[in-house]
Amino acid sequence: MKLLHIDSSTRANSISRRLTAQYIEVWKKNYPGGNVIYRDLAATVIPPVTDDWAATFAEPATLTPAQRAYLSTSDELIAELLAADTIVIGSPMYNYSISVPLKAWLDQIVRMGRTFGISAGTPVGLLGGKKAVVITTRGGAYGPGSSTAPLDFQEPYLRAILGFIGLSDLKFLHVEQQMKPEAEIEFASAVAKINELAQ
Ligand SMILES: Cc1cc2nc3c(=O)[nH]c(=O)nc-3n(C[C@H](O)[C@H](O)[C@H](O)COP(=O)(O)O)c2cc1C
Repeated sequence: MKLLHIDSSTRANSISRRLTAQYIEVWKKNYPGGNVIYRDLAATVIPPVTDDWAATFAEPATLTPAQRAYLSTSDELIAELLAADTIVIGSPMYNYSISVPLKAWLDQIVRMGRTFGISAGTPVGLLGGKKAVVITTRGGAYGPGSSTAPLDFQEPYLRAILGFIGLSDLKFLHVEQQMKPEAEIEFASAVAKINELAQ
C-alpha cells in the first residue's frame, strides 16, 4: 500500500500539518508494510502554468528537450499521485478557498492524457480506484445551513477538480473554529475522527 501525504499550509506549525501527521501515524500502524510519499507544497515553489503548458496537448513523441524539461515538475508530481493508493491532503482555508501552493499543485497534476482523458467528447478522470481524504482547517465555520455556508469555495472546488481526475472516493474532514475559543475542542474531535478515517 502506498500513501501520498500532501501538506499545503504556508505555516510551519500549522493545524492541518499536525492533523495530516496524525493521519499518517495511525495509517502506518494499520499498514506496517505501507509506504508514505511526502510532498510539502510549501517547501519548494511549484512553477505556475504558462503558455508552454500547450506542450501537454502535443504527441509525447514529438516533444522537444525544452518541452520535456518544462513538463518535468508535472511528470514528477503525477508519478507520485499515480503510485499512491491513498492520498491525504491538508488544506487550510485561505480567503474562502484553497492556498496558492495547493492550486499550483493542482494546475500541474490535472493533465490531459495523464490524469484525465476525453471519451466521445467528454472528459473522463483516470484516477479511479484510489481513496482520497482532505483535511481542511478554517478560522471560522461553514456548516450546512449556516449563513456562511455559501462562502465555502474550498470543499465544492476540491470536490469538483479531484472528481474531474477520477478521485470520487473522496472524504472531507472539516476542522473549523481554529481562530475561536472552541479551537481545542474541535481539534480533539478531529483527532478522534482521523483515528477512524485512517483505518
Ligand atoms: C491568508 C489567510 C487567509 C485566511 N482566510 C480564511 C477564510 O477565508 N476563512 C476562514 O475561516 N479562515 C481563514 N483563515 C484562517 C485559517 O483558515 C486558519 O488559521 C487555519 O487554521 C489555517 O490552516 P493551518 O493552521 O494549517 O495553516 C485564513 C488564514 C490566512 C493565513
